[in-house]
Amino acid sequence: MDWGKQNRLARIIKPETGRTVMLAVDHGYFLGPTRMLEEPEKTVTPLLPYADALMPTRGVLRNCVDPKWNVPIVLRVSGGSSIIGEDLSNESITTSVKEAIRMNVAAVALSIFVGSKYEKQTLTNLSTLVDECEEYGIPVLAVTAVGKDMARDSRYLGLACRIAAELGAAYVKTYYCDDFENVTGSCPVPCVIAGGKKMETEMDVFKMAAEAIGQGAIGVDFGRNIWQNPNAVAMIRTIHAIVHHNISPEEAHEKFQEWKG
Ligand code: R5P
Repeated sequence: MDWGKQNRLARIIKPETGRTVMLAVDHGYFLGPTRMLEEPEKTVTPLLPYADALMPTRGVLRNCVDPKWNVPIVLRVSGGSSIIGEDLSNESITTSVKEAIRMNVAAVALSIFVGSKYEKQTLTNLSTLVDECEEYGIPVLAVTAVGKDMARDSRYLGLACRIAAELGAAYVKTYYCDDFENVTGSCPVPCVIAGGKKMETEMDVFKMAAEAIGQGAIGVDFGRNIWQNPNAVAMIRTIHAIVHHNISPEEAHEKFQEWKG
């Protein structure tokens, strides 16, 4: 692997543990002003010291993140459809590689929609992006978006992750599911998990993160389950301890209570 690509990946996936805690704040690209992300700078700034990488769009990066922060950026570069539009899977590449380089990113991220109406378009978006990024040593994160009619099970997610890896993704973001070891076990590149909608309790989030790590994930890329929590800093610190120090959900709960205080 090219030195530059290895170096960029090592900024995101910490060499000391081989793991990462990414903070996802790219939701506005199809959801608009998501709750608690109406003013991104206010929400994101206190969390940055605990994030191994930040995943924004270029608009939020340029307008709401101080460039003096030394946090690696995984830039969302796909989009083009909204939650009220015809079909979310109808995505294109929305930000050029030149623009990503200008913003000194560590990686770029793009969604694929396996099994959806625009499956082929999103998969060829991925391979085109990988071709362009390889030239400059920029890793591509493929996000396995799940369409309305798709089951979030290990068969589907394993298929989507494997296709992403086959097309050249450096690592994959997917959803946690039963038999998750079948997803990580058949994906030749590292997997991180998304959080999804805010869960009922913090313990649910801690269990999901710990189980995913136990079944081969190399980290998380959480959004709403961190910044929609009233104790968001305590949440990200706790997730960091689960991912990098293998603490159990019970120990995590104790840490969360301590840091919340
Ligand atoms: C979805 O495609 C976006 O990439 C989000 O960043 C992703 O869903 C992770 O955020 P959350 O943990 O809120 O689901």
